[in-house]
Amino acid sequence: MTPSQAPDIKVPYSYLKEQFDDPEPILNAFRDQLERCDFTFGRELVEFEQKMAKYAGAKYAAGTSSGTMALTMLLRAVGVGPGDEVITVSQTFVATIGAIASIYARPFFVDVTDDYTMNPNLIEQAITEKTRAIMPVHYSGQPAQMEKIMEIADRHKLPVIEDACCAISAKINGKHVGTFGKGGAFSVHPLKNLNVWGDGGFIITDDKEVYDRIILLRNHGLKNRDEVELYGYNARLDTIQAIVGNYLYDQIDDITNKRIANAKNYDSGLSAPELSQFITLPPRRTGERHVYHMYMFLAEHRDTLLNYLIHREIEAKIHYPIPMHLQQASLEQTVPFGKTDLSRTEEQCKQIITLPVHQHLSKEQINYVITSIKEFYGNKLWK
Ligand SMILES: Cc1ncc(COP(=O)(O)O)c(C=O)c1O
Repeated sequence: MTPSQAPDIKVPYSYLKEQFDDPEPILNAFRDQLERCDFTFGRELVEFEQKMAKYAGAKYAAGTSSGTMALTMLLRAVGVGPGDEVITVSQTFVATIGAIASIYARPFFVDVTDDYTMNPNLIEQAITEKTRAIMPVHYSGQPAQMEKIMEIADRHKLPVIEDACCAISAKINGKHVGTFGKGGAFSVHPLKNLNVWGDGGFIITDDKEVYDRIILLRNHGLKNRDEVELYGYNARLDTIQAIVGNYLYDQIDDITNKRIANAKNYDSGLSAPELSQFITLPPRRTGERHVYHMYMFLAEHRDTLLNYLIHREIEAKIHYPIPMHLQQASLEQTVPFGKTDLSRTEEQCKQIITLPVHQHLSKEQINYVITSIKEFYGNKLWK
């Protein structure tokens, strides 16, 4: 089949229209809240926090205005401040690094493994007398290698903040990500696996001191109406967003399982022998629950493949072509960053590609994507 004969199937990246095609239950809950007018710190926020703590198996959860603010406040809550180094990865969304830089701490980048998450074997050589925390990222929904990371962190008495913004419901041997370190940050931004109607996030922790600090930080550091204990932020999760989160709570496992099933279908289609010289799938380790916020792999001729897929009405994307240490903001920032060799990160950014994997895709759409990729390589369409 040539591209001009492509059937009229669209494989969209976003699924929000389908997901919220019956908004009545949410709108009714909004109306109920409107009667009470408890727009900040309403009872649905408390309900959301209790649900998320229980779901993840953590003692405490606190809603935040975004995943970025959840990360920023967790860093401050464990004592990271100006000039301190935080060991993290460059293979991530900007928010991981923005959170560190915004409190004038310094990112110290280590390279990743073939699963696009922090390589634990590189952490120790990055530790200096200025290191104050380690921040792995469960990138794309793939759990970072937490058991190894925690072993090193514990040995050096360093707190670990988990960037679990893409990884709600991800687990390692049954234990939720975000519960390994001192605290985990999650995002409920519209395109996350659990999503609200705008920005939002939350933290989980078992540490009462960290929790208390977050509660202060997210509300201007106010101890009570009149007394400020420390300077913080306006970084609360709105009650209306908590209403949406509560509505979707019952669907988390269903959403996640559908994404995992779609990813399995991609894995088996893209493991075809004729694709082996063109496509490298990341390793799938047993005992880990990857939740496929993004379905990613490395592709030869990536940019022409991307164009071809878009031409076929498949909304593939690149996350991300430029790693964080090579971004203008890193190169020009006044707070310098540290790094070890990042060649694997740089190589991955040249080849990485993301396919739509959301829960509203049909088997036919997944097959259409796989067929399109096979056609691209089979017919040498990059030439
Ligand atoms: C790895 C990672 N960290 C942090 C964030 C920030 O989350 P938010 O958009 O809710 O601020 C994101 C969002 O995409 C992310 O992917």
